[in-house]
Amino acid sequence: MPYILAIESSCDDTSASVIFENRVLSNVIANQSVHELYGGVVPELASRAHQQNIIPVVDAAMKKAGISVNQLDAIAFTRGPGLLGSLLVGCSFAKTMAMSLNIPLIEVDHLEAHILSHFIKDEEDKVLPEFPFLCLLVSGGHTQIIRMDDYFSMEIIGQTIDDAAGEAFDKSAKIMSLPYPGGPLIDKFAKEGNANAYKFPEPNIQGLNFSFSGLKTSILYFLRDNLKLNPDFIEINKVDLCASIQKTIINILMKKLIKAAKQTGINQVAIAGGVSANSGLRQAMLDAGEKYKWKVFIPKFEYSTDNAAMIAVAAYYKFLKKDFADLNASPYARHL
Ligand code: KG4
Ligand code: ZN
Repeated sequence: MPYILAIESSCDDTSASVIFENRVLSNVIANQSVHELYGGVVPELASRAHQQNIIPVVDAAMKKAGISVNQLDAIAFTRGPGLLGSLLVGCSFAKTMAMSLNIPLIEVDHLEAHILSHFIKDEEDKVLPEFPFLCLLVSGGHTQIIRMDDYFSMEIIGQTIDDAAGEAFDKSAKIMSLPYPGGPLIDKFAKEGNANAYKFPEPNIQGLNFSFSGLKTSILYFLRDNLKLNPDFIEINKVDLCASIQKTIINILMKKLIKAAKQTGINQVAIAGGVSANSGLRQAMLDAGEKYKWKVFIPKFEYSTDNAAMIAVAAYYKFLKKDFADLNASPYARHL
């Protein structure tokens, strides 16, 4: 039944989405190009850009959905984790709108929403995951293997002990002087390169945990040594370097995901988060699905990186439980 407007402003994208049940009517995203100059997200600039973008983005989402604000049944927002100043913009906006329309407010956890993006019904015959399933959540701030037992019942069974997979992509790109965010660029160049050109070491970490800081250091030393011999080393070998780095990151991720599936006996396996947009990782999931007889769930590109449609669908399942937020709900930068 419900129409829900959701707002996502946890990092550097301002997004608003309107859904009817778990069907997306609109999903508008404004990216902030201001950060490219600085090689990473500048929190103060992000908050200011959210403040500039939020009204036009919400307006565009409502117009695209073709409904009036009086038809909305709830307003949802990302409560955390993320940048506090950025979260505050979406949170304050959502509260004001919920109050003025006198409809419920729903708070959503950004990471839960990335996983629940698999429940967006974007095609009539779309098969949704059944519980339990495993999800490899890979974003700019997180790398976790999560066992999902219900919409809001989850257990982290493995996670990174240092950098996230997205950071591994972005930091490797930065070492190669590629602009931020480097993940999509590495993906693009990797398509033209030889993934076996260079070999970077994979860490030996216990259980289902990950580590990416050693990879970053080994790339740094490898490039430093080669640049001494040839100052154009990176430029000449860019596509092979990107393909080899990408392959190493994917191998590290997939080995633990395969181990997790074996250990739990669960054969429904999903990926979510910004890095799930990576074409190499998507292909590796399809290959593993075939080899290990998994039912594989890969989000559409627009629902991989940060977007408000995933916040809206998570809010829909909270709406069904009447799990509403207090008007004094405040954002959290990280999980407690
Ligand atoms: O989920 P997300 O949009 O924001 C966070 O919640 O962190 O993830 C952003 C991360 C960045 O590190 C970005 O470089 C990475 O996702 N990313 C990619 C690709 N697209 C985005 N990494 C590798 N390949 C891609 N195609
Ligand atoms: Zn995210």
